[in-house]
Amino acid sequence: MVVRRYAIVGLGSRAQLFARALAGSPRAELAAFCDRSETRMRVHNGWLGASVPGYRPADFPAMLAKERVDVVVVCTPDHTHADYVVAALHAGCDVVTEKPMTTGVDGARRILAARRETGHSVRVAFNYRYNPVHRRVRELLAAGAIGEIGSVEFSWLLDTAHGADYFRRWHREKANSGGLLVHKSGHHFDLVNWWLGRGPETVFAFGRLFFYGDGNGHRRTAADDRFALDLEASPKLRALYRDAEREDGYVRNQDVFAPGVTIEDDLSVLVRHRGGVVLNYHLHAYSPREGYRVAFAGSEGRLELDVRENEFPAGAVPAPEPGRARLTVQRHWAPSEVVLDEVLGEGHGGGDERMLAELLGDAEPDELGCAADHDSGLQALLTGLAADRSLATGAPVPVDELLAEIGEPA
Ligand SMILES: NC(=O)c1ccc[n+]([C@@H]2O[C@H](COP(=O)([O-])OP(=O)(O)OC[C@H]3O[C@@H](n4cnc5c(N)ncnc54)[C@H](O)[C@@H]3O)[C@@H](O)[C@H]2O)c1
Repeated sequence: MVVRRYAIVGLGSRAQLFARALAGSPRAELAAFCDRSETRMRVHNGWLGASVPGYRPADFPAMLAKERVDVVVVCTPDHTHADYVVAALHAGCDVVTEKPMTTGVDGARRILAARRETGHSVRVAFNYRYNPVHRRVRELLAAGAIGEIGSVEFSWLLDTAHGADYFRRWHREKANSGGLLVHKSGHHFDLVNWWLGRGPETVFAFGRLFFYGDGNGHRRTAADDRFALDLEASPKLRALYRDAEREDGYVRNQDVFAPGVTIEDDLSVLVRHRGGVVLNYHLHAYSPREGYRVAFAGSEGRLELDVRENEFPAGAVPAPEPGRARLTVQRHWAPSEVVLDEVLGEGHGGGDERMLAELLGDAEPDELGCAADHDSGLQALLTGLAADRSLATGAPVPVDELLAEIGEPA
């Protein structure tokens, strides 16, 4: 059995998933951590009962050589992904990066060039693909359950706990996260690309900051403190963030109504995909409940997926409840058939665990093509970047314009 040596860069919340899986896999050796916070690296070692050597960002290239790293897992804030991906590829490593692959044209150009030059792989952790319900949608569409697809409606609701969380930390600045169209909708755009087997061609968007941010302070009421995140109340949040604040000044619980928000919280996007299918997409981040609906209109009928996650948040800490998914297919001139109506598993419908098993080589590659490479990372990013550009210009954006800037063929 081949055992590969892994390093994780960015030891915040998301890294836990990878650290635990790597520490428990017979095919992996957790060789190094890299973060600007010594505290967070120490906390992760404590949780694992391990003593993985920790390095500072300036020592990243030296770390890769010294620890003989084969694969780098990138879990840092989004705007830093490109630098780590490129450095890791040039050091001879393969890369697994959290989504989004990067946040802009420049990062995409550098990643794709480094991949071509080195031949090493970049995989993007699009865990939503592995959700069994999303896999079922792909199977049904590919089997022609509703004929040829004409259009897609997709609406995603983030509640006032989960949605608000993007306004408490680094995500609130577009320079860090690319905005929700890149950071969050990237998952959804990737799903649509994967379901359709086609990437975006032309994108138009409207969006605004409607609910959070200092301009919307007039919405504050006596119940405001429901938006205040108490880091002391959670041992995990206290260890990872409160106890580390003095070290690097990262404040995890900023006021969602404080100045400095440069992202939108309500977004509408129209995407014409290559081949002609049109996606009508909406995301908002201040819903009383969490969930999503997606509907495909086909030449022979309609497929609808309705997922209800948290019915209502009790406070500021997102507390995932088991969601419920209902998937129906209705063919023309026939009653609607319920394909499934069931409770979802934990961790993105059980998708996280399946993704990890495949990424670590503990499971066979998925026959539905769940594994997302640099091209999938790019295609999801293209929709988000084009939509963001459309917000700025007020005009539809041809994706070929972005591809030309990135240096990729149309
Ligand atoms: N696929 C998913 O469902 C999912 C869910 C959550 C987060 N994510 C992704 O995971 C990544 C991390 O998110 P998170 O919620 O863990 O964030 P986080 O803020 O909790 O953790 C980020 C970590 O990176 C470190 N860091 C910041 N700048 C750095 C730098 N220049 N060099 C090295 N380390 C640096 C911070 O100190 C922190 O420990 C993001 O890209 C996010 O999009 C994906």
